[in-house]
Amino acid sequence: MGRNSNSKRPSSNSWDAVANWYLGWAGAEGSRHHRELVIPALTALLAPRSGERILDIGCGAGALAPAVARLGALYTGIDKSPKLIAHARRHHKGGARFLVGDATRLPDVARLGRATFDAAAFLLSIQDIDPLDAAIAGAAWALKPGGRLVLLMTHPCFRIPRQSGWGWDQNRALQYRRLDRYLTPLDIPMQEYGKAKGSVTRSYHRPLEAYVSALSANDFAIDAMREVPGAHFGAPESETRAKRLARQEFPLFLGLRAIMRG
Ligand SMILES: C[S@@+](CC[C@H](N)C(=O)[O-])C[C@H]1O[C@@H](n2cnc3c(N)ncnc32)[C@H](O)[C@@H]1O
Repeated sequence: MGRNSNSKRPSSNSWDAVANWYLGWAGAEGSRHHRELVIPALTALLAPRSGERILDIGCGAGALAPAVARLGALYTGIDKSPKLIAHARRHHKGGARFLVGDATRLPDVARLGRATFDAAAFLLSIQDIDPLDAAIAGAAWALKPGGRLVLLMTHPCFRIPRQSGWGWDQNRALQYRRLDRYLTPLDIPMQEYGKAKGSVTRSYHRPLEAYVSALSANDFAIDAMREVPGAHFGAPESETRAKRLARQEFPLFLGLRAIMRG
């Protein structure tokens, strides 16, 4: 069960303890969800251009790096997990640069400079980083005026770990989405992964308002948004029409793009 989020706690932990599990599941190129859904949605919003400097915050093993390189932009990834960064460095050759650092204290990262990036992204990481305001303030510090920031996350309105799920309405023969909590921010210990028993990661549920407010408080203006439904990877032929409809109606991911004023 989650508890209320409290910004006085120390900042979120790296995924070092679950790095082997995460690499086994997603690999350095990302999972199928990464490759077919979230990376295309994120790059469409971020629109990296040739020669631009792009910062990937909470980059893990750098699943975003190849897509940025293909567009001719210069990639820097930062993550708190030394293991994931070491793996990223081994896997992604070429121009990509990977740094160990805390997203909530970006000015302390030795090889990062203020106002040096054209665009920044949190790819499935913003909901694992706490406090939110420090993470958004860090992105604002790293971006040039007019720089772009994209948050790509599991949809906070429909996908709340342990507090949402599917239900079946027998009378109407429809699958509905059930939400138990929404407005209360929650600090949620996630399940133990693989052999990394006892090593739980944490996810921070916040209502949509928290993201919009944190962006606005740090001088960002939201100018684009995408809601991405889940895919039917491996779904059997027999999957009912009701289930399919529900998956198409309730997005799995949310992308927000914001521009730094000034
Ligand atoms: C779900 S993983 C996503 C990784 C990568 N973006 C991807 O899509 O494969 C979340 C990442 O956030 C990182 N993280 C959590 N708190 C952090 C912090 N305070 N500073 C930097 N990275 C952090 C974790 O180490 C982990 O790699």
